[in-house]
Amino acid sequence: MSSPANPFAAACARAVARATGIDADGLSVQSPPRPELGDFAVACFPAARQLGLAPAAIAARIAAGFEPDAWIASATATGPFVNFRVQRAAMFHHLLDATLRPRDDAPLLPRHGAGKTVCIDFSSPNISKQLAYHHIRSTVIGHALANLYRACAYRVVGINHLGDWGTTHGMLLAACARWGEPQPLDIGALNALYVRFREAIKTEPALEEEARAWFKRLEDGDLEARARWQRFRDVSWAEFDAVYQQLGIVFDEVRGESAYEADMPAVLAMLADKGLSRVSQGALVVPLEDAAGVEEMPPLLLKKGDGATLYATRDLAAAIYRWDSYGFERSLYIVDRGQGLHFKQLFRVLAMAGYAWAGRCQHVPFGLVRIGGKKAGTRTGKVVLLREVLAEATERAAATIRDKSPGLDDVAVAAIAPVVGIGAIVFANLFAAREKDADFEWEQVLSPQGDSGPYVQYAHARCASLLRKAMIELGDPAPSPEVDCALLSHDAEWTVARRLGDFADTVARAADGNDPHVLTHYLLDLCGDFSRWYTLGNGDPALRVLCAEVATRRARLALVAAVKEILQIGLGILGLGAPEAM
Ligand code: ARG
Repeated sequence: MSSPANPFAAACARAVARATGIDADGLSVQSPPRPELGDFAVACFPAARQLGLAPAAIAARIAAGFEPDAWIASATATGPFVNFRVQRAAMFHHLLDATLRPRDDAPLLPRHGAGKTVCIDFSSPNISKQLAYHHIRSTVIGHALANLYRACAYRVVGINHLGDWGTTHGMLLAACARWGEPQPLDIGALNALYVRFREAIKTEPALEEEARAWFKRLEDGDLEARARWQRFRDVSWAEFDAVYQQLGIVFDEVRGESAYEADMPAVLAMLADKGLSRVSQGALVVPLEDAAGVEEMPPLLLKKGDGATLYATRDLAAAIYRWDSYGFERSLYIVDRGQGLHFKQLFRVLAMAGYAWAGRCQHVPFGLVRIGGKKAGTRTGKVVLLREVLAEATERAAATIRDKSPGLDDVAVAAIAPVVGIGAIVFANLFAAREKDADFEWEQVLSPQGDSGPYVQYAHARCASLLRKAMIELGDPAPSPEVDCALLSHDAEWTVARRLGDFADTVARAADGNDPHVLTHYLLDLCGDFSRWYTLGNGDPALRVLCAEVATRRARLALVAAVKEILQIGLGILGLGAPEAM
């Protein structure tokens, strides 16, 4: 356990550590089940174990001997817990300062990743076919994880391991040889060509042999085959990149499977030298057996009977390349859970080959998300195109925005609609627990009221509009942390502050567990807290953010500005934009 990023939570752990003589790092600081109990709770079990006393007795002793300081106002014992109340004005001030004026000595985000590298393999689609809707989940989860790790100060290498090699390309080359290269060559034409070829094989099995021969020519560096393959790759990348641009994604490395072709002999030789590979039914495999020779999982297939290397062989080379190039702390593969066995086999073979870093490799699986009842397709089946889903989302968002904000002109709507529509799709994909399947309706995904991206974006725009109004109509200065924090005396304001204080630890938890949905839930909670505070003013003008009393208003505006900042940073980490008006 490392100490919490919130210094007030850390101070509570230190108070218990000081009173008992145990190490603060071993203590967990939680939120009490009910806010009336206090702001932070520290359990006394670890101290009890070390001191051989009952946890409740230790808690009572700590509470009795407690003396307030600049951080903590009071301590009470409840069973085995010490519940602390912090100095509210001090924590308000700290939060406003850290959020509105971040400095190195008061970082807003965790720093535990400094000096460490994480490789994240995400999106990684196969070329020569469109990005289908299911590709979005790897793409947006991977992008959010890359941002989360960066937020924790890791060096991140975001990798697109394009599926640009393998027998599929033999089929496409054979098809071009037969029927001519489609003009104009685009990804739709390539996909159609592939489907036509698969259909034709059914009645003309000899085509299979032609495809194999063409793949062999490609592998052997035949110029005609290479040039045509390169065109397939170029048109595919153009198509993919257009979507990546819409999603605001840039990869640090785009290195397809083809890049590992040259490493194949060395990988195969290494496995043979170590006595790991063997020929089985004409194929080259690595059997995966326990010490007694009992098969634990199916063997990893390295080379088919016809000599062609496989996906797995190239993944071995890629893993080694990443280690050699980046010396990673973690190497993540954001790939659907259907490939679970592949990654288990892969990591096992790396471990058997003696690479100690194999334990740092991790498959981050995910389930299927559907929106509007549309299922992700397969190569031959009916594919729902990602491009089309994003376009539909944008169109629907434009309608919602026009409806909700009739004051916005067409230019503004056109600018905001993609941010909201695409953001809604991204958010829904991250909101669903990663390993579960989820079914969303369009209304849910785009709802400005529900657990949605637009809901968070609206809260952010609401903050922006309050700040604009204060400056333009009331002449308030830009919000600053130098306000009288004692004026923030309502519990609803404190609830907002407590939540803001959890931001850094939430980001750390989301990164450490590879779970962006932790952050989506946090942002929704923050919006809920903000809205409960904000709507108090509907019943009582004195509780409005823009109340008449100037000093109070400026203190509240600083809190609004802090909420806005955290929402914007949080949305940015998830891969969503935060419009200033909606
Ligand atoms: N191209 C593969 C597919 O579309 C995913 C690749 C994932 N990354 C990896 N290193 N295997 O299924």
